[in-house]
Amino acid sequence: SLIILTTVPIIAYFVYRISHRFRRISKNIQDSMGDVGHICNEVIDGHREVKAFSSQMIEKQRFAIANQKNRRQRMKKIATEATAQPLIQFVAVIGLATVIYLATLPHWLDSISVGTFISFITAMFMILTPLKRLTKINSKLQAGIAAAQSIFNLIDQVPEQDKGNHHTTILQGDVKYQSVHFKYPTAHHSLLKDISFHVRPGETIAFVGHSGSGKTSLVNLLTRLYPLQSGEIMIDDIDIQQLPLGILRKHVAIVGQHVTLFNDTIANNIAYGQNNISEQHIIEAAKAAHAWSFIQTLPEGLATQIGENGILLSGGQRQRLAIARALLSQAPILILDEATASLDSQSEHHIQIALDNLKRNRTTLVIAHRLSTIEQADHILVIHEGRIVESGCHQQLLQLQGHYAQLHQLQFENTQ
Ligand SMILES: Nc1ncnc2c1ncn2[C@@H]1O[C@H](COP(=O)(O)OP(=O)(O)O)[C@@H](O)[C@H]1O
Ligand SMILES: [Mg+2]
Repeated sequence: SLIILTTVPIIAYFVYRISHRFRRISKNIQDSMGDVGHICNEVIDGHREVKAFSSQMIEKQRFAIANQKNRRQRMKKIATEATAQPLIQFVAVIGLATVIYLATLPHWLDSISVGTFISFITAMFMILTPLKRLTKINSKLQAGIAAAQSIFNLIDQVPEQDKGNHHTTILQGDVKYQSVHFKYPTAHHSLLKDISFHVRPGETIAFVGHSGSGKTSLVNLLTRLYPLQSGEIMIDDIDIQQLPLGILRKHVAIVGQHVTLFNDTIANNIAYGQNNISEQHIIEAAKAAHAWSFIQTLPEGLATQIGENGILLSGGQRQRLAIARALLSQAPILILDEATASLDSQSEHHIQIALDNLKRNRTTLVIAHRLSTIEQADHILVIHEGRIVESGCHQQLLQLQGHYAQLHQLQFENTQ
């Protein structure tokens, strides 16, 4: 019995090491499967770029490397599985063999009866089968534990802070930024420094500046996508931290640089996020956004499916749908982030009229590349490297002879 007992810690040690290995390999397999899926997704989504840049070979190699890695991990798992059972059984059998050997030594033979010996050996053999099963189950168990760890990591992510309890239903759209400092959680340096401005309900404020100066980040802070470093953003003199996210975001409509459309009908894309919208309202919004003319030419009109992320539409058409979407929402605050960037001059002119309709009675924060589209704004802020360097209306800024005048001069020359 003692000899058998000494094999137990040895077996336990092996099982421990093997379990560890199983878990590590299972984790690696999950990661490498993720890589394989990720690359597939990227290449299929970006098949036009892959073809246009003739990078088929590079992508094939990238895919082959990810596949190789995955295959190696799986081979490792199978090899471990294949060695684990014999190894553990080997240790157990050595114990057994030692017992039988000792029992057959002459001076032991006398002290053990045949019955005791047989029952002992039978009992020992009966341990072998469950031991075998146990090692087999272990591999599945460890894979399950590794998967559960990934899932719990995801579940344990801290959700968006939504502790506001100021349950107002109507906001006028008075927007105030007070010495806002902001840094992306992943960045080393702060992006926005000491941003302060005030727009009253119904007014339009425009932001201009070089790309990368922080304009998009600045206006997105209004919907509390990221926490501020310091400073305050207020709507109607209520700190936006005090507003529940649902209420805050219902009051802000965004037409962004990157329009996201859903694999659904045109009507549902325009009415996105809203319930009980009549077709009449959708058509009105589409007309105001100058989208109706192209929607009518489509085979099924509003009921046309537009494919994944609106693949069947042109850039300008997508942007017009986004504008119709914003028109339909009754939000008092409107953010236009280069909303007309992918339109030709003529469409832009049409859209500008639509946008002027949209801006009426709404507080508008507009970012535009073409300065001609923001000359009428009530305030214009020039952003340079995360700071406001100039502010005023079009005429005042021109007289300053600074950044704005320079930008204006440049664009003016280009259009000549
Ligand atoms: N999600 C993000 N995480 C980290 N850095 C970002 C993120 N989005 C933008 N940035 C960085 O912030 C800077 C400003 O970007 P952005 O606000 O888009 O500028 P603009 O709209 O003026 O072109 C850029 O340098 C960009 O690299
Ligand atoms: Mg931008």
